[in-house]
Amino acid sequence: VKDEREFDIILWGATSFVGKLISRHLFHRHGIDGDLRWALAARNPARVETLQQSLGEEALSLPVLIGDAFDTEFLREMAARTRVVLSTVGPYLTYGEPLVAACAAGGTDYCDLTGEVPFAQRMMDRYGADAEASGARIIHCTGVDSLPSDLGVAFLNDFAVRECGAPLQSVEMHVRAFRGGFSGGTLASFLEVTALAQKDPGVTRMLRNPYALCPPDQRTGVRQPELDMLGRSEVDGRWLHPFFMAPVNTRVVHATNARLGYPYGQDFTYTERQAAPNQLAATVRHLVMAGLMLGMSNGAGRSLLARYLFPKPGEGPNESVRNSGYFKFVFHGRTRNDRRVTGQVTGDADPGYGSTAKQIAEAAFHLAREVPRTRVAGGFWTPVSALGLGLVDPLVAHAGLRFEAKHAD
Ligand SMILES: NC(=O)c1ccc[n+]([C@@H]2O[C@H](COP(=O)([O-])OP(=O)(O)OC[C@H]3O[C@@H](n4cnc5c(N)ncnc54)[C@H](OP(=O)(O)O)[C@@H]3O)[C@@H](O)[C@H]2O)c1
Repeated sequence: VKDEREFDIILWGATSFVGKLISRHLFHRHGIDGDLRWALAARNPARVETLQQSLGEEALSLPVLIGDAFDTEFLREMAARTRVVLSTVGPYLTYGEPLVAACAAGGTDYCDLTGEVPFAQRMMDRYGADAEASGARIIHCTGVDSLPSDLGVAFLNDFAVRECGAPLQSVEMHVRAFRGGFSGGTLASFLEVTALAQKDPGVTRMLRNPYALCPPDQRTGVRQPELDMLGRSEVDGRWLHPFFMAPVNTRVVHATNARLGYPYGQDFTYTERQAAPNQLAATVRHLVMAGLMLGMSNGAGRSLLARYLFPKPGEGPNESVRNSGYFKFVFHGRTRNDRRVTGQVTGDADPGYGSTAKQIAEAAFHLAREVPRTRVAGGFWTPVSALGLGLVDPLVAHAGLRFEAKHAD
């Protein structure tokens, strides 16, 4: 039976750039003989040992599993030993499928950091029935994409229902700060998605669908605001430009809505853009971003960028960049009874790595301990639809996040 499994969490990809930060968080928060039974898993034993040494003497006694992302027998055994597999092995389109298949078949809960929408949709369509049958809860996008957006909307909706007596009708989210860096792994994953879209027009269509991550029979809905526009906010007049994570985050927010039976209503609209201090800054950032996207849209551009501009897999922002990083998302909501509410989610470390590591570690712990199958059955879920607002307190207590909501009229 599931509760008798040897581990609560196996961290798969412990030696990735972000995996090392997750290991550090789990080690400092839970130690090795504490309230969490956990293990490290990766493909290279020497790299795991270096990681253990960097954590400290005690970490050398953490259990270790060694195997390859394509070794299905190894993955099946790993999945059978734990309640939750937390995976950082990406690009997920390249490495992720055999593990999702093993977890879905073995009744093992799973969470990851993918922001690759085609991967998440494909996994749901291929393994949804297996997960429902086995009881495995599979959750993608459990880092800065898309946990803060997903929880930020749910938190504001909860406030709206309690304080205004009606749920949200629409939310305009402004990214007011996003300071940190990128890792080679993240950029490799971006390149993977753009390469796939270039090859397959079906993927381009999927990426344009705001409802792409909803369950298969719920992938349509009202027209959503465009995300690729430069312009001024109707709420506060700020200059806004496209936010690179919006094409993932908005899909996750709509998937939560669909998964939970439309608590925000079937005609809910949601948009995310990044705020700039003035028109010039917004325009320059927009042009730089558009240039990068153009560069990534063909094979030659992708290899040039990967070779000369982007960090290599395994590399990422250094400690001082991570420590001085932070993010601030502001959610401007309108309720169904026409009241204005504002929410805010902030994080105390660089969003993509320092903060993401803490977020997914807390999410995995919460999934292992606080989400019984009687409440959330097997299947493909989003962070909020599986983990709920109960995740807010641990994120505030242990992951440096803050949540606020207030009236704005
Ligand atoms: N959603 C978010 O907010 C967010 C934030 C950060 C990262 N991410 C995603 O997380 C993923 C990891 O990012 P990263 O920068 O940490 O990447 P990374 O450092 O390049 O790590 C990739 C990992 O995959 C492992 N790996 C590669 N091939 C393997 C194989 N055949 N078998 C087993 N393991 C294999 C590598 O093992 P070795 O260590 O042995 O090389 C490494 O641990 C990326 O997909 C990235 O997009 C998402």
